[in-house]
Amino acid sequence: MLARNDRGGYTVPTDRLYPFQWNWDSAFVAMSFATFDLDRAFAELERLAEGQWNDGMIPHIVFHAPSDDYFPGPAVWGTTHRVATSGITQPPVFGTALRHLHEAAMREGRTGLEEPTSALLGAALRSHRWWRKARDPDGLGLVAILHPWESGSDNSPAWDEALARVPTITTTVIRRKDTSHVDADMRPRDEDYGRFIHLVDLYRECGWDPAKQWATAPFKIADVQMTAILARATADLLPLAERFGTGAERDELVDGHGALTEGLDRRWRSDLARFVSLDLVSGEDVTAPTQAGFMPLVALRLDAERRAAIAAEFARWCEGVELGLPSTPSFWPAFEPRRYWRGPVWAVINWVVADGLRANGLGDLAASLEQGTVRAIERAGFCEYFDPTTGKGLGGEGFSWTAAAYLVLSGRRP
Ligand code: GLC
Repeated sequence: MLARNDRGGYTVPTDRLYPFQWNWDSAFVAMSFATFDLDRAFAELERLAEGQWNDGMIPHIVFHAPSDDYFPGPAVWGTTHRVATSGITQPPVFGTALRHLHEAAMREGRTGLEEPTSALLGAALRSHRWWRKARDPDGLGLVAILHPWESGSDNSPAWDEALARVPTITTTVIRRKDTSHVDADMRPRDEDYGRFIHLVDLYRECGWDPAKQWATAPFKIADVQMTAILARATADLLPLAERFGTGAERDELVDGHGALTEGLDRRWRSDLARFVSLDLVSGEDVTAPTQAGFMPLVALRLDAERRAAIAAEFARWCEGVELGLPSTPSFWPAFEPRRYWRGPVWAVINWVVADGLRANGLGDLAASLEQGTVRAIERAGFCEYFDPTTGKGLGGEGFSWTAAAYLVLSGRRP
């Protein structure tokens, strides 16, 4: 599957529906390439870094080659980087992937990868600096998304309230392509699409300037999933900076890691037994239950009380469903087992959550989540996501990151 989706040093998430390089998809894919082809794994991150802007942002899409299969394409984004890219970002799994590649190189006794590792470390450091400056200008220790697509969980109920404040009018003419590849009942609704593009129009009119966007954004959520992934990646860069970087870079990572983990720690809600994001426009907690509430496990070491509470909550989400972890639990009114990010299970989310469970001493839960994911993929194939009530495969077919999750998680079989 990875070979089939290879377009020359980078993979597309899937043919047709997503015909370019996507940011966090590629980071997961790089980790899976590292299980059998380290050079190809490095190439995946290098091609992603070609899209990195001068200010450090790594965009959510790099449009290496044209395609008519996707909307919104380069003309809608109107960005000015030397390679065409989108103007928003995605979860920074990049640093975690880089550490993973470096460790694989060490295990294999490979030489000659120091230079690429050091160059990619530079890209990761610039990206983390961008995150903290552009997306946490008030120093909350939490990084914010300005568009639901940045979260990677595009249509999550977590964004419903905040997105409802965004107008549906657009200056761009909307020509959806996704619904010609996949059933409309699995995809976002037209009304939400209008809001997604409204935000793109607005930020394009800001000339993609981070400070202007921050001041203008009608949608601004300090996201625990994003912050957790950034905090984890920051920790993962530390050993690399010790080896390839300077003392100042090391200190910067230690400082960033401290700020982000403290920020996350403050987002725990004991009555809900999970972490919650913060809507920076309304000042309210985002209490809609989504997988994001479990992601901080990957960045924090919880005390015994929180660990027991989150394990019980995790079990409650998996109760009565065929396959965990649902992106929205079945006990919640917004649960839709087939629609994008409103219930379905994603293999890469399970991968990250399993890592977090294991890091917090919940190895049994982690193993059962991983094995359930592997079995579902064996039954349904490398589909985009799964219906938690039946375990059936949904969305697009032939997905790179589902194949990536399969390679990595099946290798962990007891
Ligand atoms: C969808 C997902 C996003 C992913 C992309 C490509 O937009 O929500 O997380 O990166 O597809 O697979």
